[in-house]
Amino acid sequence: MALRNIVTVGDSVLTKVSRPVTKFDRRLHELLDDMAQTLTEAGGVGLAAPQVGVLRRVVVVDTGEDGILELVNPEIIQESGEQTGLEGCLSVPGKYGIVTRPNFVTVRAQDRNGAWFEAEGEALIARCFCHELAHLDGQLYTEIAERMLTAEELRAMEEEEA
Ligand code: NI
Repeated sequence: MALRNIVTVGDSVLTKVSRPVTKFDRRLHELLDDMAQTLTEAGGVGLAAPQVGVLRRVVVVDTGEDGILELVNPEIIQESGEQTGLEGCLSVPGKYGIVTRPNFVTVRAQDRNGAWFEAEGEALIARCFCHELAHLDGQLYTEIAERMLTAEELRAMEEEEA
């Protein structure tokens, strides 16, 4: 396993559409392992392959108690409810925005060996599914944010965390 560099906004790789995974081989497993390690190290909730410079439809999500969920070729097949809240991105460091997302999301995806499964997400995890899958289509949350937090709001948030 190895840490990978997280690409930040301004790099054109973040605006491109990722290709489906067709080979469930050692290379994919290495990518998934590296992405999980990179996500954990960065302290994020989710990471999409284009964020480490790989244009493949691969996402990892830290679901908390259940550990890292690997999603290969994921698609949202059901969504309901609505939540409006704070969102950030490892590729847009130091910024946060207010984004409205569905509150419940069901994703269909393949695991690292190609087997299809479904995963349900609520609240933060639903937000994360939507955010990460958008990365696979070259979209950043900053494009759909109702507004970005001001410098003053960011400072207040940092003070709260400290
Ligand atoms: Ni992101």
